[in-house]
Amino acid sequence: MFPAQRPRRLRRTSAIRRLVAETTLSPSDFVAPLFVGEGLSDPRPIHSLPGQYQHSLTSLTDEVKALHSVGVSGVILFGVPATKDDVGSGAWDPKGISQVALRSLRDEFGDDVVLMADLCLDEYTTHGHCGVLRGDGSVDNDATIELYARVALAQAEAGAAVVAPSGMMDGQVGAIRGALDGAGYDETIILAYAAKYASGLYGPFREAVGVEIAGGGDRKAYQQDTSNRREALLEARADVDQGADIVMVKPAMTNLDVISDLRRELDVPLCAYHVSGEYAMIKAAAANGWIDSTAVALEQLTAVRRAGADFVLTYFAKELAEELGR
Ligand code: PBG
Repeated sequence: MFPAQRPRRLRRTSAIRRLVAETTLSPSDFVAPLFVGEGLSDPRPIHSLPGQYQHSLTSLTDEVKALHSVGVSGVILFGVPATKDDVGSGAWDPKGISQVALRSLRDEFGDDVVLMADLCLDEYTTHGHCGVLRGDGSVDNDATIELYARVALAQAEAGAAVVAPSGMMDGQVGAIRGALDGAGYDETIILAYAAKYASGLYGPFREAVGVEIAGGGDRKAYQQDTSNRREALLEARADVDQGADIVMVKPAMTNLDVISDLRRELDVPLCAYHVSGEYAMIKAAAANGWIDSTAVALEQLTAVRRAGADFVLTYFAKELAEELGR
């Protein structure tokens, strides 16, 4: 007459719920994406990402201090250069903004915060693509990965503990690993954006870094098609074979199945990127009073961990680390 199983017993108090929780979320699970603008003397707010800034070197250091003090493990840096060119040479210039910022953070924080550098060309190219173009406007894969190798060396030299290639070129991880090892940077970690889908959710990011793809173009010729699930495993296995230490799935909420697949099939650490559009949607609805930002962010990031991600790159890092520390 009464059900034998009474799952509600285990939900009665918050202490019991915490005891039986299958998934935990803690500040050490977060990496904060940060933007640094060349030549800025004051931080510039990013309108589509409320609470996020294009930082000056000074405000960048302050922000990393704040993140560190609430227990966030790491930061991933995106440089916004003052000038661009066809090949994106600012990306590997030792005096380029990303390298200058990495050096200053390394001097300030040493190994206390995991310093990651996004490794791509799109912020530095006039046409906004993640690689160099052929005459017909298509991205030249093999010419591009040679440039990625140069960027990796510049970032490692400047103090990045982790380089994170995000351009989705074939063979990029192998080219970068080879260059790093050849120059004695055998301890530099590669976090591969392994399964990165062509997504409308990167819109606010492109405002943040001032990237417009030439001719209203897109990245569908190099980033993955949302229709494909098995292909993510092919991509991630290729990256691990080429020497990736950690693999990433991106965006997060639209690819929970992929996170779950990679968790089951691979033994390297796995992370997910909760991207700019995912943050912006929550912030926009919350600004209207329609949802509670912190509650929804906690729910989404817990789901990403439950699907199998070991850690998450998220613009909510500071907000949630503060909340979890209360
Ligand atoms: C490429 C890069 C992008 C993001 C991270 N690295 C943009 C793109 O692929 O167009 C997006 C991150 C986000 O939306 O938060 N350098």
